[in-house]
Amino acid sequence: MHRVLSGIQPTGIPTLGNYLGAIRNWVALQDSHECLYCVVDLHAITSFQDPAQLRAMSLEMVATLLACGIDPEKSVLFAQSAVSAHARLAWIFNCVARLGWLNRMTQFKDKAGKDREAASAGLYVYPNLMAADIHTYHATRVPVGDDQRQHLELANDIAEKFNHDYGVDFFPRIEPLILPEAARVMSLRDGSRKMSKSDPSDQSRINLTDDAETIALKVRRAKTDPEKLPSETEGLAGRSEARNLVDIYAALAGIDAASVLRAHGGRGFGPFKEALAEVLVTRLAPIARETRRLVADEGYLLGVLRQGAARANALAEPIVKEAERLVGFLS
Ligand code: TYM
Repeated sequence: MHRVLSGIQPTGIPTLGNYLGAIRNWVALQDSHECLYCVVDLHAITSFQDPAQLRAMSLEMVATLLACGIDPEKSVLFAQSAVSAHARLAWIFNCVARLGWLNRMTQFKDKAGKDREAASAGLYVYPNLMAADIHTYHATRVPVGDDQRQHLELANDIAEKFNHDYGVDFFPRIEPLILPEAARVMSLRDGSRKMSKSDPSDQSRINLTDDAETIALKVRRAKTDPEKLPSETEGLAGRSEARNLVDIYAALAGIDAASVLRAHGGRGFGPFKEALAEVLVTRLAPIARETRRLVADEGYLLGVLRQGAARANALAEPIVKEAERLVGFLS
C-alpha cells in the first residue's frame, strides 16, 4: 500500500482552492491509503508570522481539516514542528540539493518578489523542507494542487542524489496526485492569478469559513467578460475568468466542464453565478458550521494533534535515524 503525505500552511483561512485542489482528495484517499497530513508551521515562518496568530491559525486549520472530513482515527494529522525528524532530514537535504536547483524554483521567485535580498534563507530552502516532509515517512504519493508540481520534482531529484551519493537505494520515488479538474483554482478578481489564502484582497477568494451571504456576494462580484457563456468548452479559450467559474462549478458538482456548459451555455453570467453560489453554499456551509463548532473546543484539537504527533514520530524516527546513519553520524 502506498503511503500518502501532504501538508498545508497555516498562514490564513483555507480557501476553495485548497479544498478543490488538495483537501477533498486528502479525504478521498483515507479509505484506500495510509495517510499523513501535516499543518506545516515550519514552512509558515519562512515569512514572518505573529506568534499568537500562528497558533490560532494552526488550530483553525486543524479544525477546518477535520470539518472537511479528515478522520483522525484513519489519518495521522499533526503539526510539522512536533516531529523534529522533518527538520533533521531537511538539514541533510540542504546539503544534498544544489543551489542551481533552488534557483529554478518559480515559487521562490514569486514569493520573494523584486527584493530577493530581503527574503529569508528559510524561504529559499523551503522546497528542501518539503522534500524532507515526504521522505521522512518514505511516502510515495503526494496529493497537491498543480502549483506544487515543481517542488515535487525537486523532491525526487534530492532523493535520487542522496541515493547516488551514499550508494544506497533508500528514498523511493514519489508521485504527485493532482486532480485533473480544479488543479489550479484562480482568483475571482484576476483569472491569471492563483486563488490564495495570502492574497491581500478577500474578494479574490472563497474562504471555507465564509457564510452564505458572503459567498453569494463574492461570486456576484467575480470578474467575468461581456460575452455569454459558450455552449462548448472550446468557447472558453482565452477566457480565463469564465473558465475558472465553470471549472469550480464542475468540480463541486462532480461533473465535467462540458456538462456544465450544456446546462448553462448560451446564457449570461447572472443566472450562472446564482447557480454557482448555490452549489458553493450547499457544499461549504456544513464545513463552516463544523469548523466553528470545533474551533471552540481547543482541548479536543490539541488532543488530536498530540495523538497525531505520537503516531508520526513513531513512523519517522527509524527512517530518519537510518538516513543519519547512512550519512555517517555517530548518534
Ligand atoms: P499551501 O498551503 O499553499 O496549499 C495547500 C494545498 O492546496 C493546494 N492549493 C491549490 N490547489 C488548486 N488551486 C489553488 N488555487 C490552490 N491553492 C493551494 C496546494 O497545491 C497544496 O496542495 N508547500 C505546500 C505545503 C507543503 C506540502 C509539503 C505539500 C509543505 N510540505 C509536503 C505536499 C507535501 C504549500 O504551501 O501548500
